[in-house]
Amino acid sequence: MTTQTPKGLWRLLDVLLDCSVFGAYTHIGYLFRKRFFDPKDIPEDLSGLDIMVTGANAGLGFATTKALARRGAHVIMACRNASRAESARDAILQEHPDANISVEIVDVSVLADVRRCCTRLKETHTKLDVLVHNAGVLLDERRHTQEGFELTFATNVLGPFLMTQELLPLLQAAPQGRVVQVTSGGMYTQRLDLKALQHPPDPFDGVVAYAQTKRAEVDLTQQWSARLKDTKIIVNCMHPGWADTPGVTSSLPTFSKLLKPLLRSPEAGADTIIWLAAAHSAAQHQGKLFLDRAPKPTQFLTRTNTPPERQQALWTCCTELIQSTLSKDEHTHQNERNITL
Ligand SMILES: NC(=O)c1ccc[n+]([C@@H]2O[C@H](COP(=O)([O-])OP(=O)(O)OC[C@H]3O[C@@H](n4cnc5c(N)ncnc54)[C@H](OP(=O)(O)O)[C@@H]3O)[C@@H](O)[C@H]2O)c1
Repeated sequence: MTTQTPKGLWRLLDVLLDCSVFGAYTHIGYLFRKRFFDPKDIPEDLSGLDIMVTGANAGLGFATTKALARRGAHVIMACRNASRAESARDAILQEHPDANISVEIVDVSVLADVRRCCTRLKETHTKLDVLVHNAGVLLDERRHTQEGFELTFATNVLGPFLMTQELLPLLQAAPQGRVVQVTSGGMYTQRLDLKALQHPPDPFDGVVAYAQTKRAEVDLTQQWSARLKDTKIIVNCMHPGWADTPGVTSSLPTFSKLLKPLLRSPEAGADTIIWLAAAHSAAQHQGKLFLDRAPKPTQFLTRTNTPPERQQALWTCCTELIQSTLSKDEHTHQNERNITL
């Protein structure tokens, strides 16, 4: 930042960028705000940290994994496809041969799979410093998981909710556990509707179904953060703006083609994930939404506000759906070891 320009002017420009979604979410917004970043905020040496990133083999998850592993963190790539995961890992190792990366195969939309993965992790790890919920889908048709849940909801909300719950003991064992949820600016358009969230209405609109789940992610971030306030764990969410990733190209082909020159790189989109996972200053925040390392409001329209009782109902809904997939034995076992939240 040049020293001659008054701070107030930069602040005004930042507010104007926020008002124009286009400016804030594209590469323009990132380039502008990058000038305010403290280069020393994210330590260059992250060795000793254990960080799990879901959907780590492509797009923002891949950029996040690479940046954290380059700094020496042990990154667990949680991916659903073994060969895609291994190729991504190999690509990072080619550039950074000393990177400490392991692979966990998990389909985050399948609760039984999430449970198996978390059990394995609890057997093999003593702590988890950071859990990044990055995996996400935007579908063009209605699909269901083998457990009967609508796939957008299962991938973006239910699986990550269960994963956080299951990994709490490992997060609590870390000096300061962090959970980072990757949401989307699309959630600003939605008021949480529990029925539509679980059963998107006909005709299926993938963009609306996606935005409902992204609104739910923000509400659950606030719920987790309130419920964990007496622990060392901090929970925040971020949205990456619009980044050029395989997901955007395949789910929103026209948008992607039209905006291609202005889309952020995956590295720019992932910057705030990395910051929330590892920066010193990020540790001061709890239950907030970020874009470009700065807290942002969770709604611009009052009609999209989620009242506390609806947030609570969302929490109860996720808890009950998760319990409904347990066998009787598992149910008893789960109740015995559940951390009261
Ligand atoms: N890119 C953007 O502009 C943008 C904007 C707003 C929000 N976001 C959010 O950012 C996150 C990452 O998006 P992206 O653009 O990087 O997407 P992407 O390019 O499609 O990558 C998504 C990653 O998630 C994985 N994944 C999907 N379903 C999974 C499942 N059931 N289990 C495990 N892994 C699964 C994918 O694995 P496969 O390779 O096996 O498919 C892939 O590795 C998402 O939560 C998205 O909603 C992105």
